[in-house]
Amino acid sequence: MEIESEISRLKKEQNAIVLAHYYELDEIQKNADFIGDSLALAQIAAKTNADVIVFCGVKFMAETAKILSPEKKVLLPIEDAGCPMADMATKEDVLRKKKELGNPVVVSYVNTNADVKSVSDICCTSANAVNVVSSLSEKEVLFVPDRNLGEYVAERVKDKVVHLWEGYCPTHEAFDIKELEKLKKRYPEALVAVHPESPKAVRDAADFIGSTSGILGFVQKSSAEEFIIGTEEGILFEIKRTTSNKKFHIIGGSAVCFNMKKTRLEDLYNAIKYERHEITLDEDIINKAYAPIKRMISIKRG
Ligand code: 13P
Ligand code: SF4
Repeated sequence: MEIESEISRLKKEQNAIVLAHYYELDEIQKNADFIGDSLALAQIAAKTNADVIVFCGVKFMAETAKILSPEKKVLLPIEDAGCPMADMATKEDVLRKKKELGNPVVVSYVNTNADVKSVSDICCTSANAVNVVSSLSEKEVLFVPDRNLGEYVAERVKDKVVHLWEGYCPTHEAFDIKELEKLKKRYPEALVAVHPESPKAVRDAADFIGSTSGILGFVQKSSAEEFIIGTEEGILFEIKRTTSNKKFHIIGGSAVCFNMKKTRLEDLYNAIKYERHEITLDEDIINKAYAPIKRMISIKRG
């Protein structure tokens, strides 16, 4: 296809790499240099030699890449591809809550805006959240903004007091235990793999809980042939590409993150050709948000 070869040509010409999250459209994942979960993509952004990073994902991911590599040009093809959960916490509210609670350590999920990161002690993704919280010497933690991931962490790190924020991901929050039970009855042989952003009842009924790459690895290694999946359905592109003869059912029939699906191939092409849309952040924010992200990168996956 012509647009695909043009993208390849422009990438070489500009020494650009294309990073894409597993929730992006298939046509984007097919044309990316790297696909991965939030942690893997942040790690690549931290060490790439490319001059330009085109981030096919949502804004907090591109911002994280910019904070880790401020000298590089970071492009987000769709300017308003945001994460509704990230917008559920503001810097002012986090500082107010922190004061109210007597100054606990602030752990912010990487799904936050840059100014929230700038007032956090350490970041985490769903892949390392348990290890991040376990690594802290402090006993009290304010976990921002996902209450489901925070609760999942609290259940596993028993020696900490984890204060939860009232944020959630609309896509994962919609997974309903009744729908899951129906699927389990209909497909009794199927194993259930869900993302920790899912509600507790759904997590408790799962055989595996993990990040997007955790779910991918679980399905790839399992000898089971049928799976019920509790995460955004874009993950099925890489799962199907790397496995054969397995069947999948998404809880509720479908799960879409509309922001992840905004980027089409044409937008990727326009992003590289016209340098759209460059992420710019205040130098002060970059300096303050760097430390918690860098600290997170040094912690292992769970
Ligand atoms: P992962 O870190 O598991 O890739 O998830 C990112 C995300 O946005 C989940 O909704
Ligand atoms: Fe945000 Fe949920 Fe979309 Fe992930 S799936 S980017 S948490 S809205």
